[in-house]
Amino acid sequence: MSTKLTLLQVLTENSGRYISGQELADLLGICRNSVWKAANKLKQQGYNIESMPGTGYRLISASDILSEDYLRENITHPCRIQVIEKVDSTNNAAKLINNCDPPRVIVANEQTDGRGRLGRSFYSPAGTGLYMSIAFKPSFGLDKAMLTTAAAAVAVCRAIEEVSGLRPKIKWVNDLYLGEKKLCGILTEAESNFETGLIEKIIVGIGVNCFPSSVPDELKDVVAFMENPNHDFSRNQLAAAIVNIFFSLLDNFDKPGLIREYKSKSFILGEQIRIFNPAIARSMGLSPAKEKEGIKARAIDIDENGGLVVEFLEGRRSREMETLTTGEITIRKTNG
Ligand code: BTN
Repeated sequence: MSTKLTLLQVLTENSGRYISGQELADLLGICRNSVWKAANKLKQQGYNIESMPGTGYRLISASDILSEDYLRENITHPCRIQVIEKVDSTNNAAKLINNCDPPRVIVANEQTDGRGRLGRSFYSPAGTGLYMSIAFKPSFGLDKAMLTTAAAAVAVCRAIEEVSGLRPKIKWVNDLYLGEKKLCGILTEAESNFETGLIEKIIVGIGVNCFPSSVPDELKDVVAFMENPNHDFSRNQLAAAIVNIFFSLLDNFDKPGLIREYKSKSFILGEQIRIFNPAIARSMGLSPAKEKEGIKARAIDIDENGGLVVEFLEGRRSREMETLTTGEITIRKTNG
């Protein structure tokens, strides 16, 4: 680990308390002048470090500044890493990259046009969330590619648990919930080569609402934050943990194991849900008004390909089972 990062780690562990230059120099095995230089570099990056002559250094408040250095040190899978202050969408930025071998990780402090599934937007204010895209050239077939979103959902769940102790649940197919509110959304996009039919690039976009912030009124009742975690965490730690777990799931691919874990973290299995999809509604003979309310069903299982097995509870196909694959489907958990 670099001197700068080690210093940051020591100051973070002793947040708010002065440590003398000599003590830091001894701890880091360097001279006091090098401590001073490293502290200045951290200050230039925006860390709130106070230095008092004759007393020492202290980190005044827990800083959460995205750091390429930290990510490079802590992401174990070979990757090229880029931290951007502000971008329209990290998925858009990833689309512009021609060569994704080794994989690319793009993390932004703010997105001005964060995108969600089905043309929705993803609210991405500065400093409060983790907005990240992982882009890579898959060396595997469609079978495994189909489970990339499931692997990402499991990876984000595990990473959140690892850094904060919170235990989110997965709402099929790509949302993470804390209680009844959405904590994270995942948008997976793929680019294929028309001539070969092969997938050239997969982009997994992950947005986590980390720290409480003011949100537009329409989001107040639906958005969760990583509030009251069991221990402090930074977005850097969360990002590194997500990337490491995600690639370890893909590198040591165990399809039944992945599905088992995905199911065990499910937010909806066994629950009554409503399905929003015009084609299914038409096949049930539902009126447009009924279609808007969603089709009543029960979430029964997740199949071996990550499809959601449901049993319809109303309409022409009541008691019939169907396996939903992602497409244009939205589901909502209901109480009846
Ligand atoms: C959803 O809720 O439907 C998915 C939201 C995905 C948001 C992330 S944030 C990083 C990446 N860049 C985007 O524009 N979207 C994804």
